[in-house]
Amino acid sequence: MASKRLLCCLVLLSLAFSVSTISSRGIRLELTHVDARAALTGADRIRRAAERSHRRVNVLLGAPAPSPATPPLHSDGGGGGATSAATASVHSSTATYLVDLAIGTPPLALTAVLDTGSDLIWTQCDAPCRRCFPQPSPLYAPARSATYANLSCGSALCDHALPGSTRCSASKLSCAYYYSYGDGTSTDGVLATETFTFGSGATTVVYGVAFGCGTDNLGGTDNSSGLVGLGRGPLSLPAQLGVTRFSYCFTPFHDTTKSSPLFLGSSATLSPAARSTPFIPSPAAVPRRSSYYYLSLEGITVGDTLLPIDPAVFRLTASGRGGLIIDSGTTFTALEERAFVVFARAIAAQVALPLAAPAGSHMGLSLCFAAPEGKGPDAVRVPRVVFHFDGADMELPRETVVVEDRAAGVACIGMVSARGMSVLGSMQQQNMHILYDIEGGVLSFEPANCGGL
Ligand SMILES: *[C@@H]1O[C@H](CO)[C@@H](O)[C@H](O)[C@H]1NC(C)=O
Ligand SMILES: *[C@@H]1O[C@H](CO)[C@@H](O)[C@H](O)[C@H]1NC(C)=O
Repeated sequence: MASKRLLCCLVLLSLAFSVSTISSRGIRLELTHVDARAALTGADRIRRAAERSHRRVNVLLGAPAPSPATPPLHSDGGGGGATSAATASVHSSTATYLVDLAIGTPPLALTAVLDTGSDLIWTQCDAPCRRCFPQPSPLYAPARSATYANLSCGSALCDHALPGSTRCSASKLSCAYYYSYGDGTSTDGVLATETFTFGSGATTVVYGVAFGCGTDNLGGTDNSSGLVGLGRGPLSLPAQLGVTRFSYCFTPFHDTTKSSPLFLGSSATLSPAARSTPFIPSPAAVPRRSSYYYLSLEGITVGDTLLPIDPAVFRLTASGRGGLIIDSGTTFTALEERAFVVFARAIAAQVALPLAAPAGSHMGLSLCFAAPEGKGPDAVRVPRVVFHFDGADMELPRETVVVEDRAAGVACIGMVSARGMSVLGSMQQQNMHILYDIEGGVLSFEPANCGGL
């Protein structure tokens, strides 16, 4: 018992150490959009983003995952007894933004998916690897790093940070985890600690970051080697760095030359003109949703009309249903169906152009207009759209509302309908500097030229 307590203290000490390293300067990281690296263009990119958005909402809801071809292998032969519980949880993933960082000593570069909807940081591990998907850089191997250490069971992070996803190995010396994202991505391995290096020029080195060393992984369609969670739980990157705030600013999707900055710690600041809205506490009843950043959306204005939407449509219930979250991994904002129908009718009435055939849907989006005779899709006039959050109005510029297919002469509204919850997606966050003030419990935002920050 005493040794268990001592281990907890050691973990806390190593976390405390990283706190003092970070808080003075903060960290700046560069994010790149997945499709920028894949060199996709035009309608294909939009179609892909629309498919991803639909999939993502189901994933966020924890809808049943398409069953994996092979059941997960369990990398430690120990049989901790909690195997079925450990395989039950589904978390959110699907890539939109990638971040470059380095792991170990000496540092090995890796590209990871950034995810505000989950907490765990993980990478594919050659320990050895039983099943690893192809990745753009060499596999990380714990044996080749001087700073790798297993996280022991009995440590706070093993016991409490991923409810239902971890179990002790028979030897009690390592903490096995299995984490599944519902989009077909999953990772299975042991929780460990490592030195991580952030940034490219002036780098910041952080010791003892807990992460998943995944030796049996599925997924990887996004050209990454793992994932970095920025969610609200104790294993997320901000929590482990001990920073109380972070911000990002997504450059426009069509601009594939500029990366999007992510600021962690004191470098995350906005001007006094920024607007703020409180985060809603995550539902305790649904553990996997405890990572999500919920906001209170009270209404939507289209043109000059405040839409007749019952505010209860966006409300998070005590049992964890509904609500609206802000997310980096969903491209197109998803509105609860009852709200989307009202929104779509108002847009269609005010745009007053024929819907694109068939039945207004195109590129996976359901609200599309044919450009006026002899003109391009940029001639489609779309009314202003304002999201009324608790205490803060977010006015969406046309380029964050409309996606254009020039070849087809069609302009679509970059939002989709969803059942079960609503999500503010990254399309509607372009050229907006967004600050997550974790300590203050508020989200702040202001329009910005993200490429120039
Ligand atoms: C994967 O990443 C590499 C290096 O970052 C890049 O050269 C390549 O084009 C990417 N491929 C895809 C399909 O995204
Ligand atoms: C970490 O735990 C794994 C699985 O129990 C074990 O095979 C490995 O030897 C351990 N590594 C270290 C450095 O303790």
